[in-house]
Amino acid sequence: LKTLVIDSPGAPLRLIEKPLPEPGAGEVRVRIHASPVNPSDLIFLEGNYGGGSFTDPRTFPRTPGFEASGVVEKAGPGLLPRLWMGRRVACVAPDGRDGAWAESMVTPAERCVPLLPSVTLDQASMMFVNPWTAEALLDVAKKHGAAACAQTAAAGALGRMIGRIFQKAGIPMIHIVRRPDQVELLIGDGIKPEHVLDSSSTGFDGSMRSAFTESRVSLVFDAVAGEMTGRLLAALPEGGKVVVYGALSKESASSSPYDLLFGNKKVEGFWLARWVQERGFVGRMLMAIRVQRQLGGDLASEVRSRVPLEDVPSAIQSYKKEMSCGKILIYPSGTK
Ligand SMILES: NC(=O)c1ccc[n+]([C@@H]2O[C@H](COP(=O)([O-])OP(=O)(O)OC[C@H]3O[C@@H](n4cnc5c(N)ncnc54)[C@H](OP(=O)(O)O)[C@@H]3O)[C@@H](O)[C@H]2O)c1
Repeated sequence: LKTLVIDSPGAPLRLIEKPLPEPGAGEVRVRIHASPVNPSDLIFLEGNYGGGSFTDPRTFPRTPGFEASGVVEKAGPGLLPRLWMGRRVACVAPDGRDGAWAESMVTPAERCVPLLPSVTLDQASMMFVNPWTAEALLDVAKKHGAAACAQTAAAGALGRMIGRIFQKAGIPMIHIVRRPDQVELLIGDGIKPEHVLDSSSTGFDGSMRSAFTESRVSLVFDAVAGEMTGRLLAALPEGGKVVVYGALSKESASSSPYDLLFGNKKVEGFWLARWVQERGFVGRMLMAIRVQRQLGGDLASEVRSRVPLEDVPSAIQSYKKEMSCGKILIYPSGTK
């Protein structure tokens, strides 16, 4: 088995050969077709991913890669593994064990979803992390009763999905990006120019405050954190909330105590893993079908490049320089 491995946080990725892992009870071994590089993988490579009440996913050395697609090539004992045997699946890595940046991965059968015939293995490899988060954040917005929302990192893969599904759900959205060309990108997606703000432009904070007031924004989804969180909080009207769901700035989320005390504003976190755990097996399967039906449209991801395991370190460097150009897909068996 050819696999990438990281020995400790921040260490270089190494390509090694290992014996094929055997699936245990309730598990399957998936022959990996493709696995994307997501920001969560970058956080994992730095040793900062997960923790809390979950199985500590920071054990090293380990093969990275949280999500993938492939074909089930071996089933461990159990009904579900036998049902999934030979099928095309989207899959998530097991907690605390080797992930998907390898030719094969062993994972619980419960973490695999069989694919509808219409879904390609490429789109299926990017089916969980972002599409499920987009649906989950829509659920959060509906429960909050938000008349309108805003989001940062709006030109990223997830930001564009959120833009499409909130538009379809009839929830107005203010989109915040960080470069002028990203404004054009979103306008090209059909978003009204007055609903896109560039945080690098002069007068951004004032424009944001006016846009939030005019559109009656009460909830912001923030993937940037750092000082951006405090700026969002300041721009929100009384009682507004910022949901921090990403750490792109790698900085502590700031907030003015006056906004919290006198403005009755709130900052909270969102993590998909926790949201999914609260759903149960049937709820997860229903969501899997719902998401698959939209994978060719509103929940589609663009791909910038397809790379073999050997080229992953250099591909990650170019991804970090400009993240809005689509996902890198890793093809562990080569790009053919
Ligand atoms: N909480 C959860 O459970 C969960 C689940 C899924 C995703 N996420 C988070 O969602 C976010 C977006 O994921 P994605 O897959 O859409 O990423 P992506 O496709 O790589 O896009 C990232 C976007 O963020 C922008 N960006 C990067 N660093 C930034 C910074 N310091 N300040 C402002 N903007 C910045 C990039 O702009 P450039 O092109 O200019 O680089 C790009 O538009 C990530 O933070 C990810 O961790 C969280």
